[in-house]
Amino acid sequence: MTQPAPRKPFMDVLSGEAQPIPPIWMMRQAGRYLPEYRDLRAKAGSFLNLCFTPEYAAEVTLQPIRRFNFDAAIIFSDILVIPHALGRAVRFEAGEGPQLDPLDTPAKIQALATEADFTTLEPVYEALRRVRAELAPEIALIGFCGAPWTVATYMIAGHGTPDQAPARLFAYREPDVFAQLIDRLVEASIGYLVGQLAAGADVLQIFDTWAGVLPPAEFERWSIEPTRRIVEGVRAKVPGAKIIGFPRGAGALLPSYAARTGVNGVSIDWAAEPSFIRDHVQNRVAVQGNLDPLALIAGGAALDRAVDDILANYGKGRLIFNLGHGIQPQTPIAHVERMVARVRGSNSGVR
Ligand code: CP3
Repeated sequence: MTQPAPRKPFMDVLSGEAQPIPPIWMMRQAGRYLPEYRDLRAKAGSFLNLCFTPEYAAEVTLQPIRRFNFDAAIIFSDILVIPHALGRAVRFEAGEGPQLDPLDTPAKIQALATEADFTTLEPVYEALRRVRAELAPEIALIGFCGAPWTVATYMIAGHGTPDQAPARLFAYREPDVFAQLIDRLVEASIGYLVGQLAAGADVLQIFDTWAGVLPPAEFERWSIEPTRRIVEGVRAKVPGAKIIGFPRGAGALLPSYAARTGVNGVSIDWAAEPSFIRDHVQNRVAVQGNLDPLALIAGGAALDRAVDDILANYGKGRLIFNLGHGIQPQTPIAHVERMVARVRGSNSGVR
């Protein structure tokens, strides 16, 4: 007789069942705060080589799991592999963040490949298969992509900026051409996410890091609607697929994002107001978050207080404990250990 598959607390929360001890993972949990990541990063040479060498990508995905026994692993890749698959070269220069050739005229957008070359993403699928084979069955594996709006902001400017003004200006001046770019990103993202599920991902996260710079009408058009189409398109191929959205900085627009996109969970940043989130977001979907990454750097009593506040504010409902944005490279490993122990209860490091 075959054994029933072990339960994944992470998936149970997304299915609507709050857990007595919330499952926990961290955005950007594989990264430069870990010496073993820095070693492999140096060996890989370039960041993209790290992403596209399945052996390396699988290894850095598993590193934080070995150290902290998180409830979820997120496949090591980047949101900018989609522009790469659409033929836009992406470079990651040390200390400068991503660099692309700016896609800053209507003619350039109209000349963009209509379909992503999914063969370039095959190494990501292979890394997912390797991780799934090694990962304990009760740990969830997260696949991801960037939301079309956020990916478009990098494609248009060619790099990150403080407020992504180049893409905002472009969308005001050339809304129809901008919509064509968004459409291509929606299609490519659906294909990529479905491919990740087929390769072993249990759940998907859509990162809309720059959602918070949009006024409500633009947020509706460029964040909610494309995300809704991705959710619908993925579920047309994989019915019931579980999806988390992260519209960073969406604030008062979070309830309509939760209601309209169809996601199962919403990741919130640390500025979210607890009673508002409980009444208007957590009543509908799971909430993921939302420790300030700077509280994690500070450690000590400030960290303990911040952890306790999240558990008190959201712990009775559907909660996945996480940071409000990615962990920063200068974060001490001991502080991560302290956070995990506190979330799980001091003498229950093992569930
Ligand atoms: O979370 C994980 O552990 C999985 C890996 C992951 C990376 N990027 C690896 C990475 C994930 C989920 C991302 C998502 C991502 N990438 C986002 C959305 C989430 C967020 O943090 O807002 C965005 C906006 C990007 C684009 C990107 N990639 C930027 C702006 C940068 C430079 C900033 C930085 O942290 O250096 C990257 C590079 C990047 N992506 C690194 C890592 C580990 C650092 C590069 C290195 O190691 O040299």
